[in-house]
Amino acid sequence: MTKIHFFCYLTTLILIQIVLNCVPISSAPEAAIVTKIPGFDGSFPSKHYSGYVNIDEAHGRKLFYYFVESERNPQTDPIVLWLNGGPGCSSFDGFVYEHGPFNFEAGKSRGSLPTLHLNPHAWSKVSSIIYLDSPAGVGFSYSGNESDYKTGDLKTASDSHIFLLKWFELYPEFQSNPFYITGESYAGIYVPTLAYEVAKGIDAGVKPVLNLKGYMVGNGVTDNVFDGNALVPFVHGMGLISDQLFETVNSECNGNYYNPTSENCEGNLAKVDQEIRDLNIYDILEPCYHDTSSSIRIENTKLPFSFRKLGETERPLPVRKRMFGRAWPFRAPVRDGFVPTWPQLLNSESVPCTDDEVADAWLNNEAVRKAIHAESANVAGKWELCTERIRFYHDAGSMIKYHKNLTSRGYRALIFSGDHDMCVPYTGSEAWTRSVGYKIVDEWRPWTVKDQVAGYIQGYENNLTFLTIKGAGHTVPEYKPVEALEFYSRWLEGRRV
Ligand SMILES: *[C@@H]1O[C@H](CO)[C@@H](O)[C@H](O)[C@H]1NC(C)=O
Ligand SMILES: *[C@@H]1O[C@H](CO)[C@@H](O)[C@H](O)[C@H]1NC(C)=O
Ligand SMILES: *[C@@H]1O[C@H](CO)[C@@H](O)[C@H](O)[C@H]1NC(C)=O
Repeated sequence: MTKIHFFCYLTTLILIQIVLNCVPISSAPEAAIVTKIPGFDGSFPSKHYSGYVNIDEAHGRKLFYYFVESERNPQTDPIVLWLNGGPGCSSFDGFVYEHGPFNFEAGKSRGSLPTLHLNPHAWSKVSSIIYLDSPAGVGFSYSGNESDYKTGDLKTASDSHIFLLKWFELYPEFQSNPFYITGESYAGIYVPTLAYEVAKGIDAGVKPVLNLKGYMVGNGVTDNVFDGNALVPFVHGMGLISDQLFETVNSECNGNYYNPTSENCEGNLAKVDQEIRDLNIYDILEPCYHDTSSSIRIENTKLPFSFRKLGETERPLPVRKRMFGRAWPFRAPVRDGFVPTWPQLLNSESVPCTDDEVADAWLNNEAVRKAIHAESANVAGKWELCTERIRFYHDAGSMIKYHKNLTSRGYRALIFSGDHDMCVPYTGSEAWTRSVGYKIVDEWRPWTVKDQVAGYIQGYENNLTFLTIKGAGHTVPEYKPVEALEFYSRWLEGRRV
């Protein structure tokens, strides 16, 4: 049910001329309000809403969102769309493990309901956030027509654009707030392609007009050459391969690691892979979690037992053993065409170094699903952090042309990297942002939190900023919640980071 009333406002154009505008303002859909969720006893610090937006009536293609209002000032704080990557990963990854309103404490026994605590570093402290499961087939989003599960970059962007137009129609009170599109990993593709669709829509006068101001990408997939060439310099700089191997591989491959053209190059790259294969790809400092049922464990029995223990961060609860979902083998980030899954690549059920127990237990609990208005498993399917239900094609090519277009049109862009991620290493993001060729307006310098260096930043003209987060892995806010909230809020507010 949507309450509709009319709100009139006066706009003074010039002193004499007064134009009376009447626009319909309806408030957020009451049926979408979430007031109680299993595992949490307290009261919410801000309003939460969730539900489906049907983006294709004929197919019944429905995208699921969870919307958290800002805990500060929802009337004026920005609206931020958050997208996790994969492709195939649910944005509840961000909600549960990164910057959502709650920290999840595992239940007493495996699979039992987790306990939820308020997250003091939630990004909803300073912005309203829409967590969107995209494309259809991912998380709680689904379609009545399975042909929709074959999809790609371009269809995903146009579907998400339709979602946004419908969402802002449902929540018109937020149409004039500054709007940002954000995400990480494979969302390095989702974010610029969607921002481009939105910008085109704005230019074409599509209603409602979205007040897009900019976008943010964390450890984002961008360009197969830059990303493909990023690993070797990264692992050398981090001390994971010897100087000697680096020199050999460099001269044999001529700096072209993405597309090896000789057997000697290929052979030396295989040596590099061999040296780093037991590391946690999502954060080289973190231990690699081995599921007891995983075939990976059997292969890697030489790993010391202590190495399987959890690392510690500032989060009150242990960083999840599961780091992330779908990734690619070293040196083969994303190529044009079909994007395979880890399980497919490894011929096994599980993803190395990973565990997603609390998210799995919580989001597959029928009472939780009911409370957050997600369809039951027999309609929307079992919730999976990263699904294989979709067949996804990378059909938008390099993102650099999108970034150039968007930034030269005045949209602000923050490209950030956890500098210990080996999945999409900072070396690639640093190199491609530089390659755009914009003048440096804020030369490489440390940025700080509480008088400590939190990472480095380089600012370019047209509001393109590259930023690292020191010591963070692939999912930055999961490792460095304090620093993440700091750069996030400073950048959103247009302050110096
Ligand atoms: C699913 O969608 C495809 C493409 O639009 C259409 O050809 C097909 O008839 C649909 N199937 C069903 C069961 O509606
Ligand atoms: C960006 O793309 C739009 C739509 O294709 C095009 O009209 C515009 O000229 C481009 N702008 C720049 C600065 O490249
Ligand atoms: C950069 O962003 C600021 C703040 O939004 C804006 O005022 C300025 O015009 C932008 N600069 C460019 C070159 O787009």
